[in-house]
Amino acid sequence: MTDQSGPQGLAPRRAALTLIEGALERRAGIDEALPISLGDLDPRERAFARSLAMTALRRHGQIERALTDRMQKPPPEPVKALLRIGVAQALYMGVADHAAVSTTLDLAQAEQPTRPFKGLINAVLRGLLREPPKDDPVLLAPDWLYARWTAAFGAEAARGIAAQIAEEPATDLSFREAPDEALLQDLEGVVLPGGAVRSARRGDLAGWPGFDEGLWWVQDAAAAMPARLLNLKPGETALDLCAAPGGKTLQMAAAGAKVVALDRSAKRLERVRENLARTKLEAEVVASPAESWSDPRTFDAVLLDAPCTATGTFRRQPEVLWLAKPPEIAKLAMVQSRLLDAAATRTRPGGRMVYCVCSLEPEEGEGQIAAFLKRHPDFTLVRARPGEAGAPEASLRADGTLRILPHHMEGGMDGFFAARLARKA
Ligand SMILES: C[S@@+](CC[C@H](N)C(=O)[O-])C[C@H]1O[C@@H](n2cnc3c(N)ncnc32)[C@H](O)[C@@H]1O
Repeated sequence: MTDQSGPQGLAPRRAALTLIEGALERRAGIDEALPISLGDLDPRERAFARSLAMTALRRHGQIERALTDRMQKPPPEPVKALLRIGVAQALYMGVADHAAVSTTLDLAQAEQPTRPFKGLINAVLRGLLREPPKDDPVLLAPDWLYARWTAAFGAEAARGIAAQIAEEPATDLSFREAPDEALLQDLEGVVLPGGAVRSARRGDLAGWPGFDEGLWWVQDAAAAMPARLLNLKPGETALDLCAAPGGKTLQMAAAGAKVVALDRSAKRLERVRENLARTKLEAEVVASPAESWSDPRTFDAVLLDAPCTATGTFRRQPEVLWLAKPPEIAKLAMVQSRLLDAAATRTRPGGRMVYCVCSLEPEEGEGQIAAFLKRHPDFTLVRARPGEAGAPEASLRADGTLRILPHHMEGGMDGFFAARLARKA
């Protein structure tokens, strides 16, 4: 780790505290909250605040364990919050020890409730610097999720998934049309199986080549796989039943299909409209709950990217791991089952449907499809072929569904489940 002491001041560290608190209390993801929380900071301070918040959230499991091991009883929450950012800087960001400790103590001094705890904060941080905890990937995930992943995918896979939690992801792009060499070079991009491009660039996307012209949109490599399973042909009708913010709608429109992009959230659909306008792609945008959409149409192809715990998206939203709770899995599984039934009625006889979720939990993936096939004898599973959709071989299950795990691709990707079904003619 290099010694990057980061900006001197307390302001970016305070901003990071706000971002972390907002994320862990489900008020807003880091990137949504950034513009509000980083108000007066200069670009270097902003970048540091974001990086500190992301590091503290990615390393949350390890940091919590290290703090618990060092203290006999938990300190008040504001003290713990300060300790978290102190540890994140000192152990995981290469910030010089004295800078990490002194800025944390200054923050403690600045507020009455944390002032009496300066001695404790100093002792805990110095102790951890003297004897750093083991960098154990198993501790990066909540115990109960790690245990579920072990039960569902095996010990080796659970460890592979957890190791990805600490990693900063690259930016993946999907293209309207395959990019030429010059654009690829400008984007510092590598073409992945299936056609997505992994860019090594960093910083504000709006300044990247091709953004203004709408040649591409940001979409994780794994998120681009499910829609490819539809194998859309130009002129076919397609329904994206949970469309916002629209990554998969854009893929379907770029394939030449006549797309209806439906979502229950009119607000989130604004993003779909913006994305369509920028990429100069077309789709009919509809705001309605999928279950009660009054339109009578059926479609050649239906995509259901259902709301889920999103545990597969921890690379960009590490807080999802700490917000997920067992009852929520059961609740969302019921929603998914209802939405699957709605998707079935929208699939024309002889048509096909793809179901996907960015969750690592089997109840939201494998379990949904098993139950759906029992409820709908007029549907059959259509296996994905090896390598189809750009999915790694390791992601193809024996039954032909995809269980895409974050460690299945070098450099990582989001976790997804995807299944293709056909309705009998
Ligand atoms: C996983 S996101 C979809 C992501 C999107 N497919 C993409 O690739 O950009 C799930 C979406 O489902 C929408 N949603 C949730 N319940 C719904 C319902 N009953 N009917 C329609 N949309 C719903 C949410 O508003 C959310 O935008």
